[in-house]
Formats: sequence, C-alpha cells, structure tokens
Amino acid sequence: MTHNELRKKFLDFFKAKGHTALSSDHLVPAGDASVLFTSAGMNQFKEQFLGHLKGYSRATTCQKCLRTDDLKNVGVTSYHHTFFEMLGNFSFGDYFKEDAICWAWEFLTEQLKLDKNKLLVSVYKDDEESYNIWKDKIKIPKEKIMKLGDKDNFWPSDAKANGPNGPCGPCSEIFYDYGEPFGSVEVWNLVFTQFNRKEGGALEPLPNKNIDTGMGLERLCAVVEGVTNNFDTDLFKPIIAAIKNEVSNSSNIDKQKRDFHAIADHIRAVSFAISDGIVPSNEERGYVIRNLIRKSALHGKNLGAKKPFLYKLVPAVASVMQEAYPELKARRENISQLVLSEEEKFTSTLEEGIRILKDEMARLSGDSKSEITGEFAFKLFDTHGFPLELAKEAASQKGFTIDEKEFDGLMTRQRDQSRKKGKIADTIFKSPLVKEKTQFIGYEKTQAQVKVLEIIKDKKPVEKLEKGERAQAVLDVSPFYGEGGGQVGDTGLLKSAKVTVKVLNAQKEANAILLDVEVESGKLSKGDTVTAQVDEERRHAVAKNHTATHLLQGALRKVLGEHVRQQGSFVEPQRLRFDFTHFKALSEDELSRVEQLVNEKINSSDAVNSEVMDIDKAKAKGALAFFGDKYDKEVRMVSLGDYSMELCGGTHVKNTKDIGIFKITSEGSVASGIRRIEAVTGSAAQGILNSQQKTLEDICALLKCSQENAADKLRQLMTEFDDLQNKLKQTMLNEVKNSAQGLIDKAKKVNDAFFIVSKMQGAQPELLRCAVDTIRVKLKDAKWAAMLTSLNETQVFLILAASKNLSEKGFHCGKLISKIAALAGGSGGGRPDMAQAGIKDVPNIDTVLEKSEKIILEELKR
Ligand code: SER
Repeated sequence: MTHNELRKKFLDFFKAKGHTALSSDHLVPAGDASVLFTSAGMNQFKEQFLGHLKGYSRATTCQKCLRTDDLKNVGVTSYHHTFFEMLGNFSFGDYFKEDAICWAWEFLTEQLKLDKNKLLVSVYKDDEESYNIWKDKIKIPKEKIMKLGDKDNFWPSDAKANGPNGPCGPCSEIFYDYGEPFGSVEVWNLVFTQFNRKEGGALEPLPNKNIDTGMGLERLCAVVEGVTNNFDTDLFKPIIAAIKNEVSNSSNIDKQKRDFHAIADHIRAVSFAISDGIVPSNEERGYVIRNLIRKSALHGKNLGAKKPFLYKLVPAVASVMQEAYPELKARRENISQLVLSEEEKFTSTLEEGIRILKDEMARLSGDSKSEITGEFAFKLFDTHGFPLELAKEAASQKGFTIDEKEFDGLMTRQRDQSRKKGKIADTIFKSPLVKEKTQFIGYEKTQAQVKVLEIIKDKKPVEKLEKGERAQAVLDVSPFYGEGGGQVGDTGLLKSAKVTVKVLNAQKEANAILLDVEVESGKLSKGDTVTAQVDEERRHAVAKNHTATHLLQGALRKVLGEHVRQQGSFVEPQRLRFDFTHFKALSEDELSRVEQLVNEKINSSDAVNSEVMDIDKAKAKGALAFFGDKYDKEVRMVSLGDYSMELCGGTHVKNTKDIGIFKITSEGSVASGIRRIEAVTGSAAQGILNSQQKTLEDICALLKCSQENAADKLRQLMTEFDDLQNKLKQTMLNEVKNSAQGLIDKAKKVNDAFFIVSKMQGAQPELLRCAVDTIRVKLKDAKWAAMLTSLNETQVFLILAASKNLSEKGFHCGKLISKIAALAGGSGGGRPDMAQAGIKDVPNIDTVLEKSEKIILEELKR
C-alpha cells in the first residue's frame, strides 16, 4: 500500500464513521502566535475543544506537523523527524473512549490487516475504563496491556506537573512489535482530552469530553510496507535517490545513512515551511528553517557535495507529495530559488568564517600559541553559523587545536537560555476572550441597528462604561470589518439617544468581532440597542486600496510571470503594501508596465463581484488563494472582470473605476526572494501626481523652457557644468603646483627636517593630495613632513604626509593623524607616509590645528 493509499484509507474510514474530513492547517498555526509551528493534528481544533463547535462534532485530518525537539536524533534513529504527517480523528463532546479504541483497532486490524498478535497497548495507570475496554471488548491479553504514568500516558507528556496549560488528558497508545532485534514502536496515540490545565496545575474538566488521536504517517508506512526504518518507505526513497544523484556518486547510502536521512528529512521540512510562507531568516520560525538548510548543507559536504544541491531536491519532494499537497508542486520553483539563495549565503558565510579563523591562527602564531579558545570557536559558530567540526578540521590542518570543553560549556549555556526564552507557548493555545458570536453584515451595509452583547474591560466582562472609558464591545451583528486578511479594521460610531461611542478599531476574536471603543458622551450598557455607523469615507479609501492589491497581483503575474504569489499584504486608508515572490528588483520599465496595466484595468470600469462557494469549486475555477491563510470549506471569491479571481474576505469597491488612479510609491526587498511594492490610489495618488506636476513646473520655470524640452535642457546644462568643473579643477591643480614652492619656502626647519603647514579654503581633497605629490617631487631626498588642511563650512579635511626617509625612522602619519582627529571628535588613519582625516569641529579648528602642530613638532624633534 502506498502512502497515498494509506492517507486516503484513513480519511475514508473515519468519513464513513461520520467524521468531516478537513484539510491540513498550515505549519504556522492560523491565528495563534503563541505556537511556533503546528506540531499536532489537534492544534487546529482549539475552538472545538473548548466547546465552540463549527457545525461538526467529529473530524478527521492528515496534518502537516513540524517539531524541532527531536532534531538531534534525526538521521540517527530510524523514526525521528522534524516534518511529519499526523493522521488523526477527533471528537468534540461526541464519542469517547470506547469508540475511539474500537475504531482504532478496527482500522489497524481490519482495514490494514495488521497481525493482531503483533499489537500491544498501554493505558494511563489510573484509567480503568480504557484498561477494561482493551481487555474485555478488544480482548487483548492482559500481559499485552501496560499501565504507564504521567510521562508516557498523559498528553501532553507530563503536563500535569509541568504544563503546558490547555486541553490535556490521559492517553492510550498502540504499539507494533517487529520482534527481535528491533522491538516495538508506538504507532498511534489516543488522547482522551477531558481537562483544561490552568496556571498552577489545576485540571479543570472541559465542558465536553473529547478525543484527539494522532498516528504518524511515516511510521505507519514503515509498518505496512514491512520495513523497520521510516526512511526506507516510499515517502523517502525517491528523495534519497535524488540526493544520491546530486551529491558525489561515490557516496554510499548504507555507510552514510545519517547524512542521507537527515537531508531527506530536512528538505521536506524546508519545502513545506517555505510553501506555507515561512522565509529563512534570523528570527524564530525563519531561523529554524535557515538552520535546517545549513545543517543539510553540512551533511551534504560529508557526502562530497561541492556546490549547492539542496535546491535541486525540492522537485523530488514535490513529486512524492503532489497528490496530497498539489500546492507544493505549484510553488516548487519559488521554493527552490529560496533554498538556493540560502545555500549560497551559507557558502559565503563559511568562506568568511575560514578567513576569520585564519586571521586568528596567524595572531596566535605571533604569540607562539597553538590553541584556539572555545570562546572564539563559539563566536564563530554563533554569529557566522560556522560549525565546530569544520573549525576543528581547518585548525588541525595548521597544527592548531580548539578548547572544546569551553566551547561545549558555552553551547550548553546558550541552549539553556534559549530554552527558557523560547517558550513561546505557555499554553497549547490561548482560550478566546469572548464566547459570543458576531454576524458580519459589512459587505452590504455600513449602518445598522445593533445590540451590545458584551463589554470587556481589562479582559473582564463589565456591565457598563462611563464617559471617557475605553474597553472592547461585542455586537450581535456588525457592519464594522474586523481586521484580517491584511485589511485594517473599520472605525466609526455607536450612537443612541443616550450615548455616543467612538469605535477606534475592530478585530476578529474567535467567532466574534471585538470593537475597541471609547465613550464620548452618556453611558454604554450591556444589552443597549444602538446605531452602528462605519466611517464610510475611510472604509471607501481602504476598499480602493484592497481592490487595487488584486489588480496589482494580476498585473505582476502578467509582467513578471506566474511565479508571482502573494506573500503578505497590508491595506489601510492611506496606502497599500503588497509582498510577493520574485527574485530580483523590478526594473523601471517593469514597474511602469505594472502601474500602467493596473490603471488600464481601472479605466476599463469592470464590475467587482463576490460569491460564496465551496473551496474546491473556487480552486477549480482558478481562484488564487493566499497560502498564508487557512480557508474554511465555504469561501468567498472576489472576481474583477474576467481576469482576476482571489479568495478574499475583505471589502472592495463596486467597480474598478472607483479606484481612480493607482501609483506605485516604492519597490524593495523584504527577504531573499521576496519583494515589496507600496502604492497609493484615489486622492492620495492624485496628490502625488499633482505634487510631481508642481515640481516639474518649478523646474521648467527655472530652466525657462517648456515641459517637453526640460530633460534636454537639463542634460545640456549638466554637460556644461561638468566641463566647467573640469576646467576649474585643472586651474586649481596648476595653482597648487605653482604654490607648492611657496609652501616649501615658508617651511619651518626642525632638526634636519622641513615642516610644511598650509591652510586652504574649500579645496577638494584631491587638490591637497596633488600638493603633497608636488612637494614630494620638489624636495627629492630631503626630510620633510607636511600638514595641509582644507576648510569648508561643515568639515575640515586634513592630510598629513612625510618623506619616506622620515617615516622609515618611525614618523607614522597614520598614528599621528588618529591622535589629531581624536582631539576634535573626528576620525582618520592611513599609511606611515600619508594619512588623512575629517574633522567636524569647524568652529574650534584653529585651536585644534595649533595643538596638532605642536604634536607634530614634538614628533619631529624626537
Ligand atoms: N495530540 C496527540 C499527539 O500529538 C495525539 O494527536 O500525540
């Protein structure tokens, strides 16, 4: 049975048992910043576990998961992974232990036909109910039922004592026994989620008893395919073959399993993470991905890879996974490009590391030392990602060692610190602030009679709000759009005969829309009926920008190619921001074509339509989905004319012509492979055009020419200006050459050396250097030093030069000038025979120069 068949069989089995099959959540849990990555199937059901049902009480999924806890075991054991898929069935207050256990057994023994004699189970030590179901209903011999404690049979493991807070409960696990020498492996975990752990460890019963099961697809594949190593299944074999193809062909899969397996694991995690919108970076999620790429690159080195190769594995991952995850295939080019640019970055990081290491070894050699400190090696690792193993290798080639004990100590300390810091999740997920539901009516209406269902102040419900007080209010129906999908929340007023309340923002929270409110006059009470009025002008400005982002995405895809995908957006009244995948800066020409295309669509006055439909239907129609969002089964599709279809919950204008004008204000890079465009529409765009027009008119008035001739006229003036500048420079250079003799004549004699001092107004540094050259020629073998300064309004430029025979005797212009510059808060440096500095303290320059002369005179006297 292939992995595709297994996935399908599982979902079909539970669908037949009345479960709704849902798609996997993203690896970044939707709307839950408290969690680093989706790490279990249950993550997406936070609402349901706390009693907020969404039309179904049984669900089944195959969930993409990413866990970093086991990273160091990946490749070492046969069954640890960072990325894996978890098959799960869930009950929210519906069936409980008996059905969960019986169905799990039925699936394994009847659907998959696993040998009953090879299955063992465990139950929580105090869970007699589960124990009896296994013993009496399933009829597993007693000796095959283990009773285990809080660490093994409570989920999350040891949550009672150590948390995290949130839903938890006893669990029962099913193991498959391979027999000697492999022993048994856990395949399925059935969690009986019946408690909500609170701060301090109290286990509060949940409103409903729930079921949360999780079975790793990779391990199940191994069991079903009859292999003992997950990496030998059809999920991994094509990826491992691709690795062998890309690295040196002399590498041996059996002997170098660890490297092959780790790369195969990591490239899956990296591909899926990037596909879900995580970009390699130095922070949190991005850092995890960067680290996985770097680790893989090092494993690749072990296998003889000489060049970036990981990026070439992405298509293999996409092809293995394409049936369940078609989006991976669709985005594989983008993902590859991002991986390649990370690999290249890492190569240059390593080169930089080698250079730093060599410098350090040269320094140590000077001191006759041959041990590199652990601190140095750690810093190299920590700031440059330079691994200890490579450092050791490079060091030993030059006869150096590294203090590994010190390195290990620092490493441990850092791990402890980041473990403490990295506890993003104190709770498995945060429980929502409100239980009420708000119906959003803002697509059709911007005004409505509404009821205040709840008022929340400092996270606690209150009955009323007095004048001047701020809090959050929940309505039964809301014309206010709750911030989401990159669009800001609406603002406006709540008004009745007795109260006026300002609505400062609106946000989504669970099933409600939470309004930030401030009472302007009167008193707002829970239960009040008021008129809700959205600030229509602001809403309209937002709508223009939102519809414009759709046009922009379409135009970018036309001009740059279909690889362009939204990576994020922000839409507010004043401007819009759109991030998208693309690998280089847009040229002027591309930008103006994009801008022009958007404006063409605005001028073609196309209707903006929206329609609610099944997600599969929308996708079949070709609607673009933003992969940073998780969609429900029912989605809203916004279409513009016949050229743009996007899944979108935002508010839009009725017709593209309402946008008025579209103007790009900036284009830049956000991360490697991701560009950002900022733009404005309507009156903001008109404002920019007006002010550009005004600037052009001013320029024409100054140039005394028409707008058509302005560029030619300016070009001509600039050529004339350049000519004049060159002539002036030539004249000044001649003058400097002529006056050099004068400077020499005025020189002071110190012992047998000449000391030349000169102060010029506004001379370019180049002139001073020319003066020095002239002095050098004229004075031939004489000993001399010269301090030449050029003053202008904001800065003093200073050159100190000396004859070679003087600098060879220890007169070091570079060192002296640093001293001088430091007198006046400037900076400078240079060679022994020539150095320069910039000094900002112009008002006190005379005193500074006096002191400088003294310093130089003393040095000359020595
Ligand atoms: N939440 C449980 C686990 O992660 C079962 O799905 O093991």
